[in-house]
Formats: sequence, structure tokens, C-alpha cells
Amino acid sequence: MSPIFVPTDYFRVHELSEIFEDPTKPLEIDLGSGDGDFLVEMAARFPERNFLGVERLIGRIDKTAKRIETRGVTNARVLRLESLYTIEWLLPAHCASRLHLLCPDPWPKKKHEDRRLVNKADFLNAVQRVLIPEGEFLLKTDDAPYFANALESLGKRTDFHQLDWSEDAFFYARTGFEDQWLNLGKVIHRARWRIK
Ligand SMILES: C[S@@+](CC[C@H](N)C(=O)[O-])C[C@H]1O[C@@H](n2cnc3c(N)ncnc32)[C@H](O)[C@@H]1O
Repeated sequence: MSPIFVPTDYFRVHELSEIFEDPTKPLEIDLGSGDGDFLVEMAARFPERNFLGVERLIGRIDKTAKRIETRGVTNARVLRLESLYTIEWLLPAHCASRLHLLCPDPWPKKKHEDRRLVNKADFLNAVQRVLIPEGEFLLKTDDAPYFANALESLGKRTDFHQLDWSEDAFFYARTGFEDQWLNLGKVIHRARWRIK
């Protein structure tokens, strides 16, 4: 099975049996998966789960695919597609146990704030759609205004319940961008919500 998942038809829902060798494993989705550092490390660490990376840049898809092959993990694949479209239309409802949004593009200019995924009602509705009951949405960012914005936006939703997330709560691989920001001495903010 190729590490890159290419849908046979972009206008229909794809069952997990079309994507993973063993579709019964709990699924985790990494939106904007970049070069795949997090995806591949998590897949190697948790062979009993499946991991799908979603990324729009072809160069990053290719790097991720090479990493999946080099590491020899069979429970990770990557899809070249837009994040919102993927969880709104391409994947079946209630298919994922965790959804990760790690170091998303911060869109720092005031006039671009509505481009932030966490500000879009459609995005938060799609997170609800794709997660199983009590599934989790996990966010990390180095951008303090983005983080405050996310807390405010999700805080207004009665269907998301924020959980504690201490650094040592569970194994959670670092991402490529997170490593870069930490090397520059930046702080990484994190938050985790369970859907109701
Ligand atoms: C700042 S990078 C972070 C990458 C990775 N999560 C990490 O932490 O190393 C953001 C990534 O999200 C991708 N991206 C941004 N918006 C996207 C969208 N709407 N759909 C798919 N990928 C997107 C970008 O191409 C980029 O690779």
C-alpha cells in the first residue's frame, strides 16, 4: 500500500477500509501535517492506532511518504487535500478518536483572522462531525494571539469541553515546527477539548 492515499473520487465519502490495512484501529487525523515528523513518530509509537496526515503542499507530502517508508510503519498514510474539505466531506462521520491541529498557520494580520481554522464555524462543526462521541481535538501553537483566539472561539461552543493537558500527561511527539520554535526559545501553547 502506498504511503500516499489518493482518493478514487474526490466527491464521495471514503470508508476507512479504503484507506488502511486494518480499518478497525482507532483513527487519529493530523491536519496540516507538514513534513510528517509528528505523524510518523506517533505511528511508530502506537502501532495499534491508525494515523492520517492531511497536507496541501506536494513537497511536504513527498517528505512524509519517504519518512513513512523509511520507518516501515504501515499504520500511517498521508493525503494531499485541504483540511476542512477532508473532514467535512471526504471522511465518514464519527470515524476519528483524535484530531490534531499542530502549529497551524497563524494568519497574524487582523484582516486575515477569519482565515484561521479555529474561527470558522464550519471547521468546528466538521471537527464535531468527524470525531466519535467523546473524541478529542488537540491544538498546539507558538502564536499567543492565535492561542487566545482559539480558547475564546471554542469557549463559546457548548459542544466542546476543555480538558487539562499537562506536558507529561501522555506521550505526544513533537512536530517539526515545534522543534524549530523551541530552538528559538519560543513558548508552545497547548489545549485539548473533548466533544460532547
Ligand atoms: C506551520 S506548518 C506546521 C506543520 C506541522 N503541523 C508541524 O507542526 O511541523 C502548517 C502546515 O499546514 C499546511 N496547511 C495550511 N493550511 C492548510 C489547509 N487548509 N489544508 C491542508 N494543509 C494546510 C501548510 O501547508 C503547512 O504544511
